[in-house]
Formats: sequence, structure tokens, C-alpha cells
Amino acid sequence: MQSTISVNLPTQSYPITIAPGILDFLGEKMQALTNPPLGSGSNVLLVSNSTVFKLYGQRAIASLEKAGFKPNLCILPDGEQYKNFDSVLKIYKAALKSRLERSSTLIALGGGVIGDITGFAAATWLRGVNFVQVPTSLLAMVDASIGGKTGINYYQGKNLIGAFYQPRLVLVDPKVLQTLPWNEFRSALAEIIKYGVVWDAEVFRCLEESSNLKTLLDVRSHILFFLLSRSCQAKANIVAQDEKETGLRALLNYGHTIGHALESLTQYRYFSHGEAVAIGMLAAGEIAVFLNLWSRQEAQRQSTVIEKAELSNCIPSNLEIDKIMEVLSWDKKVQNGKVRFVLPTKIGSAYIREQVPPKLVNQILLKLKSRSSTSLMSLGKPS
Ligand SMILES: NC(=O)c1ccc[n+]([C@@H]2O[C@H](COP(=O)([O-])OP(=O)(O)OC[C@H]3O[C@@H](n4cnc5c(N)ncnc54)[C@H](O)[C@@H]3O)[C@@H](O)[C@H]2O)c1
Ligand SMILES: [Zn+2]
Repeated sequence: MQSTISVNLPTQSYPITIAPGILDFLGEKMQALTNPPLGSGSNVLLVSNSTVFKLYGQRAIASLEKAGFKPNLCILPDGEQYKNFDSVLKIYKAALKSRLERSSTLIALGGGVIGDITGFAAATWLRGVNFVQVPTSLLAMVDASIGGKTGINYYQGKNLIGAFYQPRLVLVDPKVLQTLPWNEFRSALAEIIKYGVVWDAEVFRCLEESSNLKTLLDVRSHILFFLLSRSCQAKANIVAQDEKETGLRALLNYGHTIGHALESLTQYRYFSHGEAVAIGMLAAGEIAVFLNLWSRQEAQRQSTVIEKAELSNCIPSNLEIDKIMEVLSWDKKVQNGKVRFVLPTKIGSAYIREQVPPKLVNQILLKLKSRSSTSLMSLGKPS
């Protein structure tokens, strides 16, 4: 099983290669790049975190050495809280020590956090060195490693500092998902469901027809390979048509308007990103049904798949809808006074609706909350 997807941008194209065991061919695949070549024998800097490096670092190093590269290392602590300037400075320090040149390469081995930080360092060190992504989490494979968004968090703001900077190569080894905790896997399934609803009906059907999504963690699964390839293809197609998010790329925000509001309202501590996005997709689905854009039956199919992925299907009973609306209205300011929603029209296609009445959003959120039998205990009494 191997598939190569090309991300075709006006200024640059690059391959995403997906194959079980491809981690052992990292050096070889880098060496095979031309126009311009990465240069065998040159210094490279491998950036990873302590968890992923322990699991896969030695294999990456062995493969790089075999191909004639001289790997230097920068191992960061594991966690979103380290997606900050300190980590970027650590990479700069390692880059200086390793005497990286303009034609040298930074390699990110890890999840989306490592990918985003390393990409930002690659974009800025010597005004831009080569960058290779080896995503190891499902989210990084199908989302974060593709499309060139790089960055770090700053104070309360997620990804406030960053740059668009494309990698030269993305290598996806499904085998490494064997060690990914189910919680991380399940959260990333929300993004795959998203691709299914807004872009690729076959992805959706594949999820629908899998009797148990946990079996996808079996890396020999052809279904996992199919979902990885089609999700990467979806993101590659969308990004190729709209690299800097001036239009179509906003489709990728399906479920994210309300999802982000829920995450930020609960200080990123109560929902995983995928759980929040799942609630956001349910809400957007209900809005679309209300506006007669989407059928009740298809919205129901979405709910079933979301439940199958063990993602949330309601708003916890002690979250105040007014507070969610307030956060959404901040979003509104950012977007010239309009609340934009991505709304599905049929499974596999969606469009961007510029103005959705806040009253309707409020009503739908109340409906999702009324289904709730759970509350976020640690949130306490809403103030
Ligand atoms: N650049 C983009 O377009 C884009 C898109 C989506 C998300 N993101 C960013 O990505 C980040 C989230 O990515 P994430 O979900 O991968 O989080 P993450 O990088 O924190 O990885 C999640 C956890 O899984 C561990 N892990 C990763 N691969 C593993 C493996 N194979 N085996 C065992 N453990 C493994 C990590 O060490 C970490 O503890 C966020 O910072 C988000 O802002 C960026
Ligand atoms: Zn997302």
C-alpha cells in the first residue's frame, strides 16, 4: 500500500507520501527530492518531542544516516503549552549549533504541535530553510502537516504568531498510529468526518460503513489507509485552490466556529478539539436543516457517525448559551460584523453562509443543550 498525493500550489508543489513503514525511508525520500535537491551529506535538524522521539527517533536517525545526512537533534517537552517562543528559541539555538545553512533542512517528527513550531522555525531561520513533515498523530497526518500554516501560541491566543510556509515533503507512516492513544485518535476523527461532510461523500460512507471505528487503529486496515489518503487529498485539493484562506479554504472551518467558542470558553481544558468540533458540526447541521439547506435524514446520518466515533453529541447542561453567544460575537467583530458559518447542503458538499441570524444560532444551541444528560462537573456552577 502506497499512495502519493501532490499538493499543487502556484509557487511550489510537494508530495505527501503515505505508506506503512515509510519512516524507515525518510532519508531516502529526502534524498530523492529534486528542484532544488536537499543535498546528501548536509546537516539536518530533527525536531521532536520526548514522547515521540522515544518511540520513533532512532528509526528516523538511522534512515537519515543511511542516506548520508548528518542528523542533529532538538527534543522539546511534550504538550500544547510548549507551543511558544521558548521552543522556537531552542530550535534556533540547535540550528546555530548545528551550523545549518540556507540549503539545510528542519524535520518535524511528531504531532501538530511539533509540526507547527518547527514549520515556524523553518520559515524564519535564515529567512527560510527546507522543511520536511513527518506527522505522527492522526490529526497531524490529515490536517496540520498539510497546507503550510505554521505558528505558535501567544498569551491566550492560539496560533497568534505564525507564517504560511510549505514543507518540501510530507511522509505519513500509518504504522506509527499503533501507539497513539485512542483519545487522540478519536478527536482527529472529527476532522475526517468534516472532510466527509463538506468535501468527499465516499469518506463519509466509509466511516458510516465501518462497524467499529476503533478497529481503524489496526494499522493493517485498508480502511485506515483509504481514509488517510482521501483526507489528505481533500485538504490538498482545498489548499491548492486557496493557499492563503481567502475563500474556499474556509470550508475547513466546518464545525469550528462554535467548536472554537466552546474551547475558548472552557479555557481549552474540558473538550478535546475534536469533541468541540463535533458539537460545532452538529450545530451547523441543525442550522442548515432549519434553513432548508440540508435534509433531516442526512443530519441524522452525521449524528450517528459522530456518536460512533465516541465524540460528544450535546452541549453540557451547565454551559451557558449566553456565554457561547458572547464568544461568538467576539468572533463576529473579527469578521466585519458577520457570523460566518459553513453549512452542509448534502453529504460531500457545503458552502459558506455569510450571515446567520444570532437568534437562530441561540435556538439551536439551546436545543443541543436540552438533549444533555451530562454536565462538566469541574466547571462548577456557571457564574
Ligand atoms: N497547521 C495547521 O494547519 C493545523 C491544523 C490543525 C491543528 N493544528 C495544530 O496542531 C496541534 C494539535 O495537534 P495534535 O493533535 O497532533 O497534538 P500533539 O502534537 O500535542 O499530539 C498529541 C499527543 O500525541 C502524542 N503523539 C503524537 N504522535 C504519537 C504516536 N505516534 N504515538 C504516541 N503518541 C503520539 C504527542 O506526543 C502528544 O502527547 C495544535 O497546536 C493545533 O493548533 C495545526
Ligand atoms: Zn480542527
